[in-house]
Amino acid sequence: MKIAGIWRRTIDHADKSVTVLDQTELPHQVAWRSFDTLADACEVIRDMVVRGAPLIGATAAWGVALAMRENLDIYTACAKLEATRPTAVNLKWALRQMRDGVKDTAGPDRLARARALAIKICNDDAETCEEIGHHGVGLLRAVFERRGKRNRVNVLTHCNAGWLATVDWGTALAPVYRAHEEGIPVHVWVDETRPRNQGLLTAWELAQHGVPHTVITDNAGGHYMQRGEVDLCIVGTDRTTRTGDVCNKIGTYLKALAAHDNQVPFYVAAPSSSIDWTLSSGGEIPIEERDGDELRKIRGVGIMTSDTAVGNPAFDVTPARLVTAIITERGLCAPGELLSLFPERA
Ligand code: MRU
Repeated sequence: MKIAGIWRRTIDHADKSVTVLDQTELPHQVAWRSFDTLADACEVIRDMVVRGAPLIGATAAWGVALAMRENLDIYTACAKLEATRPTAVNLKWALRQMRDGVKDTAGPDRLARARALAIKICNDDAETCEEIGHHGVGLLRAVFERRGKRNRVNVLTHCNAGWLATVDWGTALAPVYRAHEEGIPVHVWVDETRPRNQGLLTAWELAQHGVPHTVITDNAGGHYMQRGEVDLCIVGTDRTTRTGDVCNKIGTYLKALAAHDNQVPFYVAAPSSSIDWTLSSGGEIPIEERDGDELRKIRGVGIMTSDTAVGNPAFDVTPARLVTAIITERGLCAPGELLSLFPERA
């Protein structure tokens, strides 16, 4: 990922601390936040200083490493981190790796082991996302070639599943960046994604790479699909079941319905760290309910009375039948056929 032309990752480490790009300050300013305790790691995840399923997992891994520096109990540390946000399965996935890798090590080796694992989780995430880009770019190339290489390829995305949501590259946006690098003219319709406006993060990171894009209201996607102005949708996921039901940012389901009605292919970019192999139905996924003030206020200014009842689920589930294919680091498959790409999970 590039910020002002300089290559960076969303998360970095030093000897005694971890540094993340503070996403609550974007798109207005690029601010980095360093922290050195487990409590801080929990706070940056809970307060969405970092967000996006893969980056939540990577940050949690570093949270465990910081807890080892503080000489804390690994089980207590993992429980605290796991309680920060309930939906993204990457959090549990990363914590399981850290716990399994560290629990039988004692003394000074424990910290070294935890740090090495956290570094590996971050590096693996960057590689995985790069592979998703590699596998997904063919979808955009096919649209471009089918049209005799005339006209831009229009992609619609929801929320932010770009490099800000991962260690590097992103999931849904990785194929877009690849296409852009290949010289395929690509344009992205960016859903605003109320109430937290992650679409503005997507617009910001696309701008950093010079990828043409247009921010639209959450309700506009169906309209552009009806007019033939969306070639394909690509979204990320916080948790996908083994059967291909996809949990992602609230509003994803409505986009999938509109795509289905307009014969627009609907793709989900899912690293295997976002697949919950224990679940066979999206209805079993815990959906985070966030503070009602996210709706009642915009930038701290009330737009309804403070006692107005609001519902604020952060995610919804798109059933597998509305998903054209899932793009993983091992290639593409029909949503119900994830096990064919990951037979070891059978
Ligand atoms: O609440 P957020 O901002 O953490 O939600 C993020 C999303 O829903 C993303 O689409 C998802 O994590 C995929 S990120 C590669």
